[in-house]
Amino acid sequence: MADQNSDALSAGLVGRQLIEPGDFSVAELESIFELADQIIADPKTAGDWAKGRLMASLFYEPSTRTRFSFESAMMRLGGRVFGFDDPKTSSVSKGETLMDTAKIISCYADIAVIRHPKEGTAKLFAQSVPGMPVINAGDGGHEHPTQTLTDLLTIRHLLGSCDGHTIGLCGDLLFGRTIHSLVKTLNRWKGNRFIFISPKELRMPEYFLSMLPEGSYIETDSLDDVIGDLDILYMSRVQRERFVNEEEYIRLKDVYILDKKKMKKARQDMIVMHPLPRVNEIATEVDADPRAVYFKQAKFGMYVRMALISKLLGVGR
Ligand code: CP
Repeated sequence: MADQNSDALSAGLVGRQLIEPGDFSVAELESIFELADQIIADPKTAGDWAKGRLMASLFYEPSTRTRFSFESAMMRLGGRVFGFDDPKTSSVSKGETLMDTAKIISCYADIAVIRHPKEGTAKLFAQSVPGMPVINAGDGGHEHPTQTLTDLLTIRHLLGSCDGHTIGLCGDLLFGRTIHSLVKTLNRWKGNRFIFISPKELRMPEYFLSMLPEGSYIETDSLDDVIGDLDILYMSRVQRERFVNEEEYIRLKDVYILDKKKMKKARQDMIVMHPLPRVNEIATEVDADPRAVYFKQAKFGMYVRMALISKLLGVGR
C-alpha cells in the first residue's frame, strides 16, 4: 500500500511547475526527499534517468549555487543543459517578452529553470507554457523554493526529521526570501519554534508575523542571549542589492558575526546553516567546526534538485 501511495504521488508530480513551496503538499515534498535520500545512498544509480532530456537554464540574475547545482544535477542524471547566465546574449536585449521567450524555450527543452530579479516573473513564465515543468530558481524578494527544499533535506538528513526543532534565524529577516520560505514551509511540519534575531530595521515584516501561529515565535536583537537554546542556527546575509540607501546597508551589514567565541555558547548538537553566499556574517574560523554544515547544505541542494527534476520529468524510480 505504501508503494502504491508513493507511485501515485510520483505520478502526480509529472509535468508540474514549482513556483513556491506551497505548490506541493507535505507528502509530495517528503516523496522528493525520499528520492533524494536514495540518490545520496547510491548516486550512480541515477546516472541515466534523464538521458535524452534537455533542461533550459535561464538566469537573468547572478547565481553560483542554484545555477551550478541545477546544471550539475541534470548532467548527473544523464541529461543535457542549455541556457544563459547573461540575458543580454538572448533576444531579451532586442525587446522580446518573457512570455514569447517561454513559448520558444518550450519548443526546445523538456524542463526549464528560471531565476529573475523581478517578483512574479517565474509565475508569468510558467503560465505561458502550461504543461511544461518550470522551476522558480528565485524571483526577486519573493520565493526561492529549491533553496527551501535544500534546507529541509539538510535538516531531515542531519537531524532525522523536520519536526520539533527550535530554529534561530539571524540577520536580514526583512529581505531574506529564503528565510520567509523556510519559516512558512517548516510551519507545515509539527512542533517547530522560531527565534527571529535581527536589528529592528531588518525585522520580519509585520504581514509575515501575522500569518504565523500564536506562540510559535519570539523576536530578539541578541544572538548571544539565545544561541544556547537552538537546534539550528540559520544565518543570512544582509542583502545589499535590496537596499535603496547604501549608508543604511553599511551601518547594518556587520551587526551579527558568528565566530568561535559565539559558537562556544552553542550546544554541541546545534547545526549552523546558511543559504550562501556569505559576506562577513560567519567568520571563516567557524568553517572547521563540525556544527558548520553550510557547505554540506549546498551539496544537498544538488541531490534534492536531482530528485525534483526526476519527479517532474517522470523518470527514474
Ligand atoms: N543560495 C543561493 O541561491 O545561492 P546563489 O545565489 O549563488 O544561487
